[in-house]
Amino acid sequence: MAEQQNPFSLSGKVALVTGGGQGIGREIVRTLAAAGANVAIADLNPSSAAQAAAEVVGLGRRATSVRVDVADSAAVEAMTQTVIASLGCIDILVNNAGICINKPVLDMTPDEWLQLMGINLNGVFWCSRSVGRHMVERRKGAIVNIGSMSGSIVNWPQPQAAYNASKAGVIHLTKSLASEWAASGVRVNSVSPGYTGTEMTKLGMATPGWGETWLAMTPMGRLGEPVDVARAVLYLASDAAAFATGTDLIVDGGYTIW
Ligand SMILES: NC(=O)c1ccc[n+]([C@@H]2O[C@H](COP(=O)([O-])OP(=O)(O)OC[C@H]3O[C@@H](n4cnc5c(N)ncnc54)[C@H](O)[C@@H]3O)[C@@H](O)[C@H]2O)c1
Repeated sequence: MAEQQNPFSLSGKVALVTGGGQGIGREIVRTLAAAGANVAIADLNPSSAAQAAAEVVGLGRRATSVRVDVADSAAVEAMTQTVIASLGCIDILVNNAGICINKPVLDMTPDEWLQLMGINLNGVFWCSRSVGRHMVERRKGAIVNIGSMSGSIVNWPQPQAAYNASKAGVIHLTKSLASEWAASGVRVNSVSPGYTGTEMTKLGMATPGWGETWLAMTPMGRLGEPVDVARAVLYLASDAAAFATGTDLIVDGGYTIW
């Protein structure tokens, strides 16, 4: 298929990936760049973000990196302006930055609840609002939020009520934004991974009783690879998904079947 006719091509587009310095976000950065996009990486960790940007330049694309705490709405606004000044516009936003806290509800402090919600849910709102304004003005754009199967099911055996609630919020916020912006040419979708091999799951896989349970409850019997998630993001970010908005694409090795 010629490059111009390939609906999965991101040639000439600019993508912004939050939390793009490591894990799933880093693989999304690679996958979007390989599909032709110039990529901005925004992360709390400036050195991993800079490394990700260098990797994108190595693939022959333009790149920039920005340090941001997505929980800080003013910092998010500055991030958007910095990326537009550096790469010209933003066609694709991937809201990937997120954290997990494994604690029983009765042990969670107010600060821990607020920290998690501030990053996982408020962060998606601030970034979508800031970049969405730019996209609505241009009457085009695609936002892909990284939800989780935890937004649809409750994980077992580890306790993580705040995380589960935040991801359910991300999935429903996705549908709400999709509804508001559909007529403005801006699509908003989510990808919801199951257990995926990154820093986030490392400790759990090493915790007696957790890792084996996770694999036993996953029909495919393995963890996902970050690239399994990244390719789903590529689909929703690209013109191949021109008629998809407000949808949640679950990529979980079948976990939510059972
Ligand atoms: N790994 C899994 O099994 C899994 C499953 C479902 C969903 N997810 C989701 O996928 C996304 C990526 O997870 P991961 O496994 O790659 O995690 P990770 O911990 O490996 O990477 C998270 C990245 O986000 C950045 N980050 C954290 N807080 C930030 C903040 N306040 N502002 C900006 N950047 C911040 C980190 O610096 C890091 O680069 C998260 O939203 C997570 O909830 C992961």
